[in-house]
Amino acid sequence: SSAPRSANSAVATTATAIVNIASLVTNDPSLGDGSPLGLIQDAAVVVDGDRVVWVGESSRTPATDNRVDAGGRAVIPGFVDSHSHLVFAGDRTAEFNARMSGQAYAAGGIRTTVAATRAASDEALSANVARFMREALRQGTTTFETKSGYGLTVEDEARALRIAAEHTDEVTYLGAHIVSPDYADDPAAYVELVTGEMLDACAPHARWVDVFCEKGAFDGDQARAILTAGKAKGLHPRVHANQLTYGPGVQLAVELDAASADHCTHLTDADVDALASGNTVATLLPGAEFSTRAQWPDARRLLDAGVTVALSTDCNPGSSFTSSVPFCIALAVRDMGMTPDEALWSATAGGAAALRRTDIGRLTAGARADLTFLDAPSPVHLAYRPGVPLVSEVWRAGARVA
Ligand code: NIG
Ligand code: FE
Repeated sequence: SSAPRSANSAVATTATAIVNIASLVTNDPSLGDGSPLGLIQDAAVVVDGDRVVWVGESSRTPATDNRVDAGGRAVIPGFVDSHSHLVFAGDRTAEFNARMSGQAYAAGGIRTTVAATRAASDEALSANVARFMREALRQGTTTFETKSGYGLTVEDEARALRIAAEHTDEVTYLGAHIVSPDYADDPAAYVELVTGEMLDACAPHARWVDVFCEKGAFDGDQARAILTAGKAKGLHPRVHANQLTYGPGVQLAVELDAASADHCTHLTDADVDALASGNTVATLLPGAEFSTRAQWPDARRLLDAGVTVALSTDCNPGSSFTSSVPFCIALAVRDMGMTPDEALWSATAGGAAALRRTDIGRLTAGARADLTFLDAPSPVHLAYRPGVPLVSEVWRAGARVA
C-alpha cells in the first residue's frame, strides 16, 4: 500500500499521535488500500486541537510530544447519524408489544408521543435528548441530526428546536410530521400554519426542513408547499419519503435538491433513476423495518444504480427505538445486501453527505477529530459480531468523550 503524503498538514510537536492502530478507516480512496474506505493497516493518526493533521502508516508517524497507544484496535470515523427524533417524552412500549403480537404499524401512534411531549417540561425534554445522545456517543456516534415533530403547535415546535439546538448543530424542523390532532378536520389549515406562523417561529432555530410525505401524513402537493416555504426561509430540505408505501416523496426530494430522501423502502425504477441522477442521498433506516416487521429497503439495488446511500438509526420511540449505528450496520449487511465496507461507509461518509458536510465522516488532514475505537482488529467486526459492544473509546473534536 502506498503511504499518504500530499494531503497531510505540517505537524507541531505539541500535537498528539495515536499509534498502533491495526486498521484505520479514512474514507479517502486516495489513501491506504485505495478502496472507498481508504483503509490503512498499522496506522497512526495525529490530532492537533479539534482537527486531524496527519494520517498514515505507524512507522512514518511524525515526532510529537504526546503519544497514545491504540493497542492494536481498529479506528473509524465517528458515526454520523443523520436522522433521529430525540425531542420527545414517554415511550411506546405498549404499542411495540401490540405490534409484536401481530398489529400493524400506523403513523397515528405519533399522536401518543405528541401528547406526552406537550405535557413535558423543557428540562425533562432536554434531559431526554442528552440521555439518548450520550447513549449514542457510547456506541460511537459523534454527530447527530435531530428533529422536532412531536409538538405540532407553534410554541411546542419552536421549543423542541431550541432544545435540540442545545445539543447539536444539525437541527430539523418537522412541524409536518403528521397533521396536528387539533386540525384533524382541516388539514389545509394545518399546512398553512406549518408554512406560515410556525415556520417563522422555527426557522431561526433550525438548519433543515423535513416533511413526512406518506398516506396518512402529507401528500405530494402538501409536501412541496412545506419544503418550498422552508427553502424560502433559508432552511434546506430533507424528506421522509416512500417509507410505508410507494409515493411522490423521493422524486420530490430530488426535484427540490433535498440533501436526503429518508427511508426509501418502496421504490419504483423511476425513483431509483431520480436518485441516481440527482444530488439527493438515500438514507436507509433499517431500525424502522426491524421494529415494525416491515420489508427491508433494498440497499443493493440503490448501490448498483450508483446512488449515494447513508445509514442512520431514525431513533424515535415509535418506529425505531435504537440509538445504535452498529446495530443498523449489522442489519444492513445481513438483510439489505450491503457489504460490511459499504455499510460502514454509509454510516460515516454517507451520513456526512446526507448532511452536506465535508468536515466529518472521514479521517484525513483537516477533518474534525472524531474517532471511534473498536475492540477489534478490523471494522468488519461491526457486522461480523452483531450485538457485541465493540466501541471501546470515542473522541469528538479532539477530546476523549467516551
Ligand atoms: O421516521 N416516519 C415518520 N416518523 C418516524 C416515526 C415516528 C413515530 O412513530 O413516532 C419515522 O419512522
Ligand atoms: Fe424518521
